[in-house]
Formats: sequence, structure tokens, C-alpha cells
Amino acid sequence: MESVQNIKQRFEIIGNEPKLNRAIEKAIQVAPTDISVLVVGESGVGKESIPKIIHSLSHRKHGKYIAVNCGAIPEGTIDSELFGHEKGAFTGATSTREGYFEVANGGTIFLDEVGELPLTTQVRLLRILENGEFLKVGSSQVQKTDVRIVAATNVNLFDAIQKGKFREDLYYRLSTVDIVLPPLRERKDDIHLLFRKFAADFAHKYKMPPLKLDDSAIQLLQKFRWSGNIRQLRNVAEQISVLETNREINGSILNSYLPDEGSNLPSVINEKKAESDFSTERDILYKVLFDMKSDLNDLKKLTLELMKNGTAKAQDINPNLIQKIYGSQEDDSEIDFEERPSTALIASKKPDNQYDEPEDSYLYTETIEEEEVLRLEQKEIEMIKKSLEKNKGKRKAAAEELGISERTLYRKIKQFDL
Ligand SMILES: Nc1ncnc2c1ncn2[C@@H]1O[C@H](COP(=O)(O)OP(=O)(O)OP(=O)(O)O)[C@@H](O)[C@H]1O
Ligand SMILES: [Mg+2]
Repeated sequence: MESVQNIKQRFEIIGNEPKLNRAIEKAIQVAPTDISVLVVGESGVGKESIPKIIHSLSHRKHGKYIAVNCGAIPEGTIDSELFGHEKGAFTGATSTREGYFEVANGGTIFLDEVGELPLTTQVRLLRILENGEFLKVGSSQVQKTDVRIVAATNVNLFDAIQKGKFREDLYYRLSTVDIVLPPLRERKDDIHLLFRKFAADFAHKYKMPPLKLDDSAIQLLQKFRWSGNIRQLRNVAEQISVLETNREINGSILNSYLPDEGSNLPSVINEKKAESDFSTERDILYKVLFDMKSDLNDLKKLTLELMKNGTAKAQDINPNLIQKIYGSQEDDSEIDFEERPSTALIASKKPDNQYDEPEDSYLYTETIEEEEVLRLEQKEIEMIKKSLEKNKGKRKAAAEELGISERTLYRKIKQFDL
């Protein structure tokens, strides 16, 4: 049996943390069997190397290895991608197509982000796991395939099960053996090792002298939370390698490359990161939504009041709303809408100012709502564009940054024709 050390060398895995070694050892042990494996760990911990190890040490190593990112395939086409389709199964299905499970017959399929699979696809997957049987989309002819499945997830599948988004029976089938990869913050001694390796690689790549960290920088590396784990560490190493002319890195230089996660050096403010921080924009967006919702409620209240009495009392209305509708000149205690024909609110009202028909009185809330929705959409488009540009078109990274799933991002790109 291959040793953990050999495998680390072959797959360029750095680190000596016992939990990491245990994960690799488990992969080596389970590889020769056909047992399904679930790889669990936070984003960026290195889950992708585990199925590769398993495949290359198995009797399937000359067969195909297909990695599928379940979160990146739109819901409408995922069944056809995985299981294939018959000619004419849906509009655009001009010919019969083989799915990954047919192509990978005799090999291994890695289902990354398995928690993102739609429930209907989960049913099909369960059948494959149970007896190797599947149906192409649009076909009633049962086919057989012999595929080893390794799945991975960075979300807690128990939560997904609780919420009815993931089938419990599928979970148990997939996780006959689970391999847990520890987050970087639990691999304190490996962090500097990894940083040095990345810094050396980037120094070579960009033809710069190597970086050197002082003690305060090493301490900060070990204290930082690294929520994006090894991927985040590598990005930081790359940024410093490219941007810092001073190759001696101390704690405060390093800190200026780290987002504020609450565990940085207390005295140094992170300015470089602030420019590209999307959380502020997201907060603004949420605030706009909340404001919009409460404005709508106020408007509805107002409408009802007007329908009942023809006038509305100022104390019943949120002063902010009055401000928004009339600008700053309003300070009357009683508002009479019929006397203010120039406002946006009156614009879509019936010319005779009668509020006896509810449909008409809701017209203006709709107009305002539409405008707000358009503005929100514009903001959303801007944020998506900005994030895609920043991440050089990488949807996965952009989705992560925006705090949405890759599939949602894909849908929005299509929806807004970006
Ligand atoms: N032990 C390691 N040594 C060196 N590089 C590593 C190690 N583990 C991971 N990496 C690198 O870190 C990056 C992130 O790893 P990977 O893509 O496997 O993460 P992941 O766990 O699949 O994350 P996600 O859930 O976000 O997909 C990759 O570029 C990988 O090469
Ligand atoms: Mg991954």
C-alpha cells in the first residue's frame, strides 16, 4: 500500500497535521474498494485532491475520471448532463446524448457540491447507487453503468436534510465512508509551511526575490481565521508576492492584505481590502429592501385611510415617507392629497380623485414598487458585473463573494443577459 508521504508528494499536498494525514490514509485504504465516499470540509480545504487519490489508487485508474460541479449546472439541464437524454426529449434535444454516468462506465465520478443537487436528481442518483440503473431523460429503457462515486460538500448536509433539501437515504448511501478535511485554522503548524511554498512558487513565477516573514507575521498567519482556507492563503501569498517591493514582511504589512475577520492585529486598519468589500454594498441593498417594504406598508395604510375618509392624519404616517413623497416642504398636520397634483403619488390616480375603487387606489403603490424593483435590479446587475470582472469571469469565486450559489448566479447572468 502506498504511504501517506508518497501520496502527498505525488499530489503536491503540503502539511503534516495528523488530521490531514488521517484523511489521506483513509483515502488510500478505501481506494481499492468500490465504496462510495463523502468528502467533507469547508471551502478551500483541498477536497478536490481526495477523489483523485482514490481514483488513481483504484482498479479503475485506467477508466475515466469525471469531476462534476453540481452547483454550477443549471437545474433544467442537470439530469440530461448526468444521465443523458433521448432525441426529442425536450426542445433542442436534436440527438441522443450520453450522460456522464454512461461515459464514466468503469471509472469514477466526483460529484462536487453534492448538496446542490435538485431533489429529483437525487432520486435518480440513489437508484444508480443502489443497483447501477438509470434512465436517460425522455427514455423508458433502463440502462446499467458501473461507476464509483465520490462526493464532496462544504455545507452541513444534516441541515439540508432537516430543511428537506437533501434526502436522508441518499446521504447514508453516499457517506458509507466519510473523509473529513480540517480547516486551515486547525492546522496551525501547516500554515507557515503552506505560505512558504506558495510564496516560493509565486516568486519563481513572477521572477521576484522570495518573501521572508518575520515573527509577528508568522504569528498573525497562525492567529488569523482563514475562512477561505488554503485558497485564501494562496491568494494572499500571491498578492503580497506581486505587490510588495519590500520582501521582508512584518505583521502590519501582512495585516493590510487580510480582510477584517476580527482576529487581525488590533491597531492596523485594513485599507486595501475595504475598496473591494462587497459586504457594504450588500448591506445597502438589504437596507433598500427593508425601506421599500416599510414604505409599501405605510402606503397601503395610507391608501386604506384615504379610501375610508378621503383624508389622512399626519400622525398616522411615517414622516420619512412624507419626506420621500413631498420633499422637505411638508409640515402640515393634515394632508390632503387632492390638492397636490404634481407629485408622483397623484400621477397615476384617477382624474376625478375618487378612491371608491380599490384597484385604482393601488395603482400608485404598484408604480412606486416597479421603480424600486428596477432600481434594485440595476444595483444587482452592477454588483454581479463588478464581481465577475474582479474575479476574472470566474463564476464560482464571484458567487462566493456575492454570497449566492453558483446556480443562482448562472440564472441571473442569463436573466440579465450579462
Ligand atoms: N494541502 C495542500 N497543499 C497545497 N495546496 C493545497 C492543499 N490543499 C489545497 N490546496 C490548494 O488549495 C486550493 C483549494 O483547494 P480545493 O479546490 O481542493 O478546495 P475545496 O475543498 O474543493 O474547496 P470548495 O469547497 O470551495 O470547492 C487549490 O488550489 C489546491 O490546489
Ligand atoms: Mg472544490
